[in-house]
Amino acid sequence: MSKIQSRPVPAHVAIIMDGNGRWANARGLPRTMGHRKGVEAVREAVRTAGGAGVRYLTLFAFSSENWRRPEEEVSDLMGLLKMFIRRDLADLHRENVRIRVIGDRDGLRSDILPLLVEAEETTWNNTGITLVIAFNYGARDEMARAVRALAIDVANGRLRPEEITPACISARLDTAGIPDPDLILRTSGEERLSNFLLWQGAYSELMFVPELWPDFTRDVFLSALERYAARERRFGGLSPQPRAVAGS
Ligand code: IPE
Ligand code: IPE
Ligand code: MG
Repeated sequence: MSKIQSRPVPAHVAIIMDGNGRWANARGLPRTMGHRKGVEAVREAVRTAGGAGVRYLTLFAFSSENWRRPEEEVSDLMGLLKMFIRRDLADLHRENVRIRVIGDRDGLRSDILPLLVEAEETTWNNTGITLVIAFNYGARDEMARAVRALAIDVANGRLRPEEITPACISARLDTAGIPDPDLILRTSGEERLSNFLLWQGAYSELMFVPELWPDFTRDVFLSALERYAARERRFGGLSPQPRAVAGS
């Protein structure tokens, strides 16, 4: 396969869902209402991605740094995840969606972890789009856990330091087996990665859209996919040479 690819539809789209709080503030509502509305945008995004032929959709739902928010908001976000899995798991399963969860599972509330495991197990054999939920996820934390796993293998004599390759690292990340994101998209106009998929995003196309997450409709998503299709990815190589025209 050529190193230079132009894929009309990205196989893997990863989204930093940002702007729920500002959406609520703009309406004089509590932030929690923005998060609630954000869940509706999640449902629409999964369907849009599946319909467009995207194979993996990763959604950044809660970062390892979001614990810094007021306790009430943290608990609200946990409650919303719980509600989403409870209410939507059966529908997602029926729609052949496969669910994977990335992020640190240690320290998650005992009423959350079993639900996440249930969602993964129930949908394990599905063959449609994979919905990757990044929950209690931080790329540096993920990498530190992967390095720890490598160090244990070296200490136990299962791996020699000179055998450590980028593939060994990828295989120990939470995203093992999932292709790198082709497109990382962030809503709300903020232009930063906020500790999201730092290793996997090495060659991702980055896109920042002004819409706040609750306003991320099917049309906004489809127009982002169109903009992606116009991008040229080189992976360190060169653009394809224009064909020599006879007589020129
Ligand atoms: C994104 O919206 C949702 C999460 C981070 C969980 P925010 O809550 O960050 O909304 P803003 O950025 O304050 O508007
Ligand atoms: C990133 O958004 C995390 C999620 C979308 C879950 P934040 O709103 O937490 O990011 P910062 O703090 O503005 O960088
Ligand atoms: Mg934010």
